[in-house]
Amino acid sequence: MSDRKGILTTDAGDLELPVIEPTTGNAGLDIRKLRGTLGYVTFDPGFANTANTRSALTFVNGAAGELRHRGYRIEDLAGNCTFLEVAYLLLFGDLPTAEQLDEWTTEIKTHTLLSEEMKRFFDAFPRSAHPMAILSSATNAISTFYEEYYNPSDPDAVGESAKRLIAKMPTIAAWAYKKSIGQPYVYPRNDLTYVENFLHMMFALPVEDLKIDPVVAKALNVLLILHADHGQNCSTATVRAVGSSQANLFASVAAGMNALWGPLHGGANQAVIEMLQNILDDPDADVASVVARAKDPDDPFRLMGFGHRVYKNYDPRAKVLRRFAHDVLERTSGKDPMLEIAQQLEDVALNDPYFQERKLFPNVDFYSGIIFRALGFPPRMFTVLFAIGRLPGWIANWKEMTEDPDTRIMRPRQVYVGPVEREFVPLDQR
Ligand code: ACO
Repeated sequence: MSDRKGILTTDAGDLELPVIEPTTGNAGLDIRKLRGTLGYVTFDPGFANTANTRSALTFVNGAAGELRHRGYRIEDLAGNCTFLEVAYLLLFGDLPTAEQLDEWTTEIKTHTLLSEEMKRFFDAFPRSAHPMAILSSATNAISTFYEEYYNPSDPDAVGESAKRLIAKMPTIAAWAYKKSIGQPYVYPRNDLTYVENFLHMMFALPVEDLKIDPVVAKALNVLLILHADHGQNCSTATVRAVGSSQANLFASVAAGMNALWGPLHGGANQAVIEMLQNILDDPDADVASVVARAKDPDDPFRLMGFGHRVYKNYDPRAKVLRRFAHDVLERTSGKDPMLEIAQQLEDVALNDPYFQERKLFPNVDFYSGIIFRALGFPPRMFTVLFAIGRLPGWIANWKEMTEDPDTRIMRPRQVYVGPVEREFVPLDQR
């Protein structure tokens, strides 16, 4: 228990607020007794000042531009680990030993296949279906094969659901893509690594195997790690909100995917590419005019890939990717005019007082889309790739929530501003 406390003074009286101490970062003022004691609620749209939980998973220092998982710097994890190693760290708390990693990797590999009946599920979507819609629907759909694992308070059941989700997500994602281009579904290959197997299912054909470029596999591994977790972001908060009703892990993760899809969150990587493509294609658009539109208070347009609720400095994930973008592009597609436009845009925005005053820096989505594109992924798959990366974070948060004795069903309050009471008027008299 902390010795520190806050005192809230209101016209209804004072309240002593215990302090929830962090290991680092912001401390929390415990306002759980506020409404019952003083009759007030707090008003905090978007929960920008509200901690919904204690968490030991991920620390983000937005002012300094730092990100650490379980205490490890994102730069070290991205530079040295496999994605499954980072998933293990998030889920179990420590980096695995070689033996633990081997066992964990083998366990994941044994669950990569989808039930054959799921093929008809993919077939039912129109060719034009957005792969994010297929991804979240299929995540709900595969849960119907595992009803015995629904119980959130059974750790074995949760462990089995988690393994199946991580193992099957690349298969679902690749099949969603194959469906959209009318190619046959490619089955997983358990002799390949997690990332190689995903590339194989995405780009191989039954008539022609795929030679996997190690540069591409390495880049994808780094990209997945950079997306693995990020505190209480919109999709993770959604996973927790749905899970707080004791909905099963599959249903909670599917809801998180839908939250991720929006252009202000995971959909931004697709929006960045569309914005850059527009600058390249439209003779009337250039870097200066796009920046001017983003600054115009009467224009709802925003510079996609810029700004972040938490980072008021360069997003450390974007920093890793900025360096990486050159290497990958050189190997895969040579000089890319889109990367040049992106860099010009970044230079202009970083030196413009509008962006400086508001502390708007490039976020992870600014460069991820350019690299995903160079690796051969179509823009509509970008948010799907983000979802595969974020999956361990969603699961780890969901587990942390179900194991936390302080968890209550998510049910925020409101400040009601509608009519107080009105006389009912029958339909024929209105
Ligand atoms: N372009 C132009 N202006 C911007 C941008 C932008 N990308 N982002 C924020 N602003 C401006 C706002 O208009 C506002 O200006 P004002 O004070 O004059 O009204 C100010 O900066 C603060 O913006 P908010 O909307 O209050 O910031 P918030 O924290 O709510 O939003 C968000 C963060 C949603 C990421 C926002 O910066 C944005 O829309 N960015 C573009 C979309 C994007 O890249 N999303 C990816 C986020 S990262 C991720 O999900 C992995």
